[in-house]
Amino acid sequence: MKVVHTIEELRDQLRGQLRAAFVPTMGHLHPGHLALMRMARQHGDPVVASIFVNRLQFGPNEDFDRYPRTLQDDIEKLERERDVYVLFAPNESEMYPEPQSFRIQPPEDLGGILEGHFRPGFFDGVSTVVLKLFSCVQPSVAVFGKKDYQQLMVVRSMCRQFQLPVRILAHETVRDTDGLALSSRNAFLSPQERAEAPRLYATLQEARAQVKAGRIDRAEIEGSATEALTRRGWNVDYVVLRRQRDLNAPTAEQIQQGEPLVLLTAAKLGTTRLIDNLEI
Ligand code: PAJ
Repeated sequence: MKVVHTIEELRDQLRGQLRAAFVPTMGHLHPGHLALMRMARQHGDPVVASIFVNRLQFGPNEDFDRYPRTLQDDIEKLERERDVYVLFAPNESEMYPEPQSFRIQPPEDLGGILEGHFRPGFFDGVSTVVLKLFSCVQPSVAVFGKKDYQQLMVVRSMCRQFQLPVRILAHETVRDTDGLALSSRNAFLSPQERAEAPRLYATLQEARAQVKAGRIDRAEIEGSATEALTRRGWNVDYVVLRRQRDLNAPTAEQIQQGEPLVLLTAAKLGTTRLIDNLEI
C-alpha cells in the first residue's frame, strides 16, 4: 500500500485511472471501515482510502481535539487486509491551504434535520470535504456506511444535484456481537457504558417489532423508545420513525401500507454521543 500525504503525490499515483473506488474515513479504523474497503475492491480498481479528521464538520463544543488519531495503527490494519492500494492521509494545511469560504450547503429539509439540527453545520462540513476529496481522488465509485444514514443520503443527493460522475454504494452497518454498531467513538465509553451501549440498538429493534406488530402511532412508538432509554440514564437527542426516501415523518396510513421506513436515533451515554438506525 502506498501512503501519500499530498494531493500531488496522490495524483501521481492515480494518473489515468478511471475506475478508482474510494472510501473516505476519519481514521481509528475498525472492522466496519475495513468492510467498506472490501466492498470497494469488488466495485473498482484501484481502491483508494483516505484518513482525515475534518475540522469543518465538528462544532465548537464537539470532540475534534479528542477524536482518536491512530495513523500508524490504521496503516498496519490496512496493510494486513490488502484491499487498499493508496491511502491518502493529508494534513490540515493540505486540505485547507486557505480558509474554506466556499461551502456546500445541503438543503434544510435534509441537512438541517436530525443530525443537522443537533450538530449545526455538520452536513455543510461533511459535504464540503467529501466534494473536495472526490475532486482529489476522482473516483468512479465511493462507498459509505449505512451507520451514518443521513450522511449517506446527503452525499447521494449532492452527487445527484451536482451531477458528479461518482456512483455511491452503501454498506450495511457492521456491529459487534452484542449489537452495538462499531464506531471510532466507542473508544470513549467506560466499561459500564460499553455494557449499556447495546441497549440503543435493542431499543430500535423493539420499536421495529411494534411497527411490524401493527402499531401505527408514530408519536407513541418514538415516545416509548425515548422513555425506555431515558429511564436507563441515556440523554436522548432523538429517536424517530421516518420514511427511507426523504427522512420525512410518515403518516399513519403510510405506516399501515408498508412504506419503507427507518428508525433513527442519537443519544448520549455520559459524554459520548452514539448514533444508530434500523430499516423497516
Ligand atoms: P467515519 O466516521 O470515519 O466513517 C467513515 C465511513 O465508515 C462512513 O461512510 C461511515 O458510515 C462508515 N462506517 C463507520 N462505522 C461503520 C459501521 N459500524 N458499519 C458500516 N460502516 C461504518 O463518516 C465519516 O468518517 C466522515 O463524515 C467522512 C465521510 C469521512 C467525511 O469527513
